[in-house]
Amino acid sequence: MVVIDREKCIGCGLCAKDCPAGKIDVKDGKAAYTPECIQCGHCVAVCPRAAVSIPEYDMDDVEEYDADTFHVDPEHFLHAVKFRRSIRSFLDRKIDRECMERILQAGRYTPTAKNRQACRFIVLQDELDEFKDLLWDQVPELAEQMKEKMPHYAMLFKFLFRRRKKDPKDDGLFFNTPSCILIAADNPLDGGLAAANIENMAAAEGAGILYSGYLTRIIEACPRLKEWLGIPDTPLVCCMLAGYPAVAYKRTAPRKKADIDWR
Ligand SMILES: Cc1cc2nc3c(=O)[nH]c(=O)nc-3n(C[C@H](O)[C@H](O)[C@H](O)COP(=O)(O)O)c2cc1C
Repeated sequence: MVVIDREKCIGCGLCAKDCPAGKIDVKDGKAAYTPECIQCGHCVAVCPRAAVSIPEYDMDDVEEYDADTFHVDPEHFLHAVKFRRSIRSFLDRKIDRECMERILQAGRYTPTAKNRQACRFIVLQDELDEFKDLLWDQVPELAEQMKEKMPHYAMLFKFLFRRRKKDPKDDGLFFNTPSCILIAADNPLDGGLAAANIENMAAAEGAGILYSGYLTRIIEACPRLKEWLGIPDTPLVCCMLAGYPAVAYKRTAPRKKADIDWR
């Protein structure tokens, strides 16, 4: 439901023009809304008089645009993208709750298909050790199951399991991370886009991330782990290890030339 304050509305029609569903018209000099829409909030964001609200959302959360304070320079943005690195060596320091909440905001504000906003973010810190033990317990059986169809993964997981058994600190899956952020979503692109923003925000906070394809694969293959995480029926899109980097990079990592077809 979209609510238009008729006292404040000046009938400029900007909300009607920007509404992707065409659910707003200007009638008798005032904007008028016809249900229903995907509640993308463009009408709220574009109104010059703050006359539009969507009561289903927390409207106190809406912020005014401030171009002077928050200008993103393209050169700085690209610099941040280039200097972000996957982190596989973490300091023994947790990300505090306030910082983690800011990092997750970057996921929350990421676009989703049909504006479904249906990503679930799971942060493992206090219960991470319990989860790590539970996951490692599943690895031998999982490797056995993978022997036929995915022999490469089966061998790798067995190898990592043996190494950790010898030395519990030698954890080739979790890299001794102090936190994990997991994203479950029906739409993999929704989860992937949120993950990218989370990673960049983590880097801006001086923290770092490693996407773990191995952990994602293991968790997806184990109903017990998915049950424990509270996502028995939702696909796990990604598992990110998160913490403060114990390594500093001096320059960018080289890349292949971009495969671009200019037409
Ligand atoms: C979807 C995805 C899954 C990944 N899975 C793993 C993984 O399981 N283990 C690992 O060490 N690195 C993993 N990586 C990290 C990549 O190896 C890394 O992004 C790549 O080598 C480029 O390095 P950079 O991220 O520092 O630029 C993954 C990256 C992505 C995007």
